[in-house]
Amino acid sequence: MLKQVTTLKGLEKKFDTLVYAAPENLFKKKLHTKVLPNAKWDLVDHALKSSTAGSKGTIINTWTGETTPSTFSVIMLPEKVSHYNSPARREQLYSQLTAIKTNKSKNIGIVISIDDPDMQLAVSCAVQRYTCYINRKVMAKEKTQVHLLVTDSEGSVLKMSDSIQSILDAMVLSIDIVNAPPSDLGPDAYAKLIRKTFEKRKHTSLTEIKGEELLKSNLSGIYNVGRGSNEKPRLIVVDYKPSSFKKTVVLVGKGLTYDTGGLSLKTDGNLVGMKMDLGGSAAVVGALDAIIKQEPKVRVIAALGVVENMIGPNSYKVDDIITMHSGKTVEINNTDAEGRVVLADCLSFTARKYNPDYIVDAATLTGAQMIATGRYFAGLMSNDAELESIMVNVGKKTGDLMCALPFAPEYFEDELMSELADMKNSAKDRFNAPSSAAAQFLFNHISDLDTPWAHIDMAGQAMCAKNIATGYGVALLAELVQSL
Ligand code: BES
Ligand code: MN
Ligand code: MN
Repeated sequence: MLKQVTTLKGLEKKFDTLVYAAPENLFKKKLHTKVLPNAKWDLVDHALKSSTAGSKGTIINTWTGETTPSTFSVIMLPEKVSHYNSPARREQLYSQLTAIKTNKSKNIGIVISIDDPDMQLAVSCAVQRYTCYINRKVMAKEKTQVHLLVTDSEGSVLKMSDSIQSILDAMVLSIDIVNAPPSDLGPDAYAKLIRKTFEKRKHTSLTEIKGEELLKSNLSGIYNVGRGSNEKPRLIVVDYKPSSFKKTVVLVGKGLTYDTGGLSLKTDGNLVGMKMDLGGSAAVVGALDAIIKQEPKVRVIAALGVVENMIGPNSYKVDDIITMHSGKTVEINNTDAEGRVVLADCLSFTARKYNPDYIVDAATLTGAQMIATGRYFAGLMSNDAELESIMVNVGKKTGDLMCALPFAPEYFEDELMSELADMKNSAKDRFNAPSSAAAQFLFNHISDLDTPWAHIDMAGQAMCAKNIATGYGVALLAELVQSL
């Protein structure tokens, strides 16, 4: 669906819709007329002169009166961004792209000039997200092709590296997983898809522990959350182990194929969108797909907790006490706080078995994350200040933004206090940073190990407000592995 274009020659007449995007200053330098000299600039000239990009960017849509292109759209990206944002202005670019009047065209050409070559990955990701967005209709007969070319601030073509290409392809995989209806992608089908994706890949092996077998490996957390479903819960571990490596990174993903809340049942409105509760695992699956193609000299282990949280006679119950993989006991006071129970076992199991240098989990863990850091920033919690800062920067580079939330056992341990067990699974005070309390729960199960760990709460990122998958986390985790 997204193809790279390698030459600027003749682009002005190649597509039904032609789009040019650049930050405001590059327009002032007249770069646009150098990059696409034969485009109909006269149609947009007046609008260009009289508009400013503001903080969100602006778009000028013009009908050309011809067929190729029938629409010519020009996007001016904002000049300044806050220090929390990606210099690639990825979100602004994406949102302006969705404002293109494509006029049902089947062939869109997008040319983007950027002022910092480091932004190529992030802007390409924005275009890939847009490509998936316009092709989102399940029944669509014909797909719209998007062609992308990125230039530097001089107008020279930046070739798309294999590494960027691998991330863009992996985003499609990840987006399809999150968009899939929950009855089409339950634990059985999801496990099959994961096996199909990773079997026969270079230096890669896969193990799956499912159903009753989980209990033999002391993975009672995963087992119990999944036991109300007709499809067996599992832990799937994919191990990319190159012939030589200096570091081992574990990526853990929450793969709740559907979260009804269990006996602490979600009410109607809160169920809408809960198919995205596998978003963390979809980010990990995508990232690992890209990583294996990039062949880094890093061992990368993906641990995916693939579970359906259902309600029924076999469901785990509020008041149950579970002995987790870590050996610690958990009193369940809310079956809807299931993700942390699954993830805690994934973390404990892999941290002990592989003794990684870093362990990072991604999960749609708490509704409160959206209150704390909102739609545009995932919440990041870590026991390691250096890892936290590396990750925030990788977020800016890829455009998968994150904002650090407190990690502080001294403040959040008490939130999980239980009279009968080592801890409860749901925090006492919902006004005391519930996302951080959830992170504390996870950490409790690896706290004896001293492994640098980071937790990405991406509840508000896996899908946008319109309930459409975003591909969030794929570029982030793939780049992170290259940066550690
Ligand atoms: N999967 C949800 C978190 C979520 C909510 C993600 C909304 C995306 C959108 C998680 O399993 C959950 O239900 N969390 C509860 C925890 C609570 C019961 C302690 C929440 O955040 O409300
Ligand atoms: Mn839940
Ligand atoms: Mn959940």
